[in-house]
Amino acid sequence: MNAAACALLRARDALTDLRPQPDDITADAIAGLSRTPRTLPSKYFYDAEGSRLFEAITRVPEYYLTRTELALLEAQLPSIAQAIGPGAHVVEYGSGSGRKTELLLEHLRDPVAYTPVEISRTAVLDATARLSQHFPQIEMLPVCADFTKPLDLPESTQRAQRTVMFFPGSTLGNFTNDDAVHLLDAMRQTMGEGGCALIGIDLDKDDALIEAAYNDAAGVTAAFTLNLLARLNREIGSDFDLDGFRHRAVYARKRLRIETFLVSQRGQTVHVGDRAFSFDDGEAIQVEYSHKYTDARFAELAARAGLKITHGWNDARDWFGLRLLQPA
Ligand code: AVJ
Repeated sequence: MNAAACALLRARDALTDLRPQPDDITADAIAGLSRTPRTLPSKYFYDAEGSRLFEAITRVPEYYLTRTELALLEAQLPSIAQAIGPGAHVVEYGSGSGRKTELLLEHLRDPVAYTPVEISRTAVLDATARLSQHFPQIEMLPVCADFTKPLDLPESTQRAQRTVMFFPGSTLGNFTNDDAVHLLDAMRQTMGEGGCALIGIDLDKDDALIEAAYNDAAGVTAAFTLNLLARLNREIGSDFDLDGFRHRAVYARKRLRIETFLVSQRGQTVHVGDRAFSFDDGEAIQVEYSHKYTDARFAELAARAGLKITHGWNDARDWFGLRLLQPA
């Protein structure tokens, strides 16, 4: 067996698997579709196909977030690592492609453990397997779980000096402000007294730039959004007609967020579990928010969660920011 396959098996052994089950997904889908206006939870975007489509989004020219954050990390990691200090247990919410993680782990001084917390089992296993080959001295303690729920951290064999919550990508933006406060509050509890959080936030900017990032010309974002319905069809046996819905994303400046919808292209009925849902022509399902932040807005969220901002780094255009937080 080659080294990569071995690493994957070891990652599987170490995995704490708290993945959402079909019954949870069905219940969440029914609850969301029963609301007015209708919604579906964006966390279900990320099955294997959804994770692959998101990676493709990060490469479309309009989607500036990932490449801006990566360049920012590359430029600022020496000072970020300095601020974090040695001997960290790094806990990452969402594990993406792992490139940002790699950069962080490379620059930190003697990190002892790494825990990706990811709702996609394949994503968390692949990321862990790859990283364990790069960083044999760091203990890999992956968790497959919905990180919006409270979490008991797996304990590292070697005692960590500090827990560092790493939450890049402006994933926080998927949460409403109230939910973001709850999540930040849960992170504060998980990190403990001496812990800290390094969080990536997409900053408010020209509407057209933001809107283009969520309406790329190649249609990758539209495919990503529609995959939510395909995923539900695959996993809970719903019968959404993928040609019957269309992606729409608009920047609601008043609320500083991209609002993404799937819009029914005709009158139609969809079955989910033992329920039937009738859609009017033009009726929308709200499926995702991507909040953008001003300094004032983000500081307010942090304060509400009992956190204070100790350091901040922006790229030269102030498009994207990284903030280091610790308990207030
Ligand atoms: C991975 C949550 C940061 O909101 O920008 C990208 C997901 N959705 N294009 C974002 C996403 C549509 C992305 N995050």
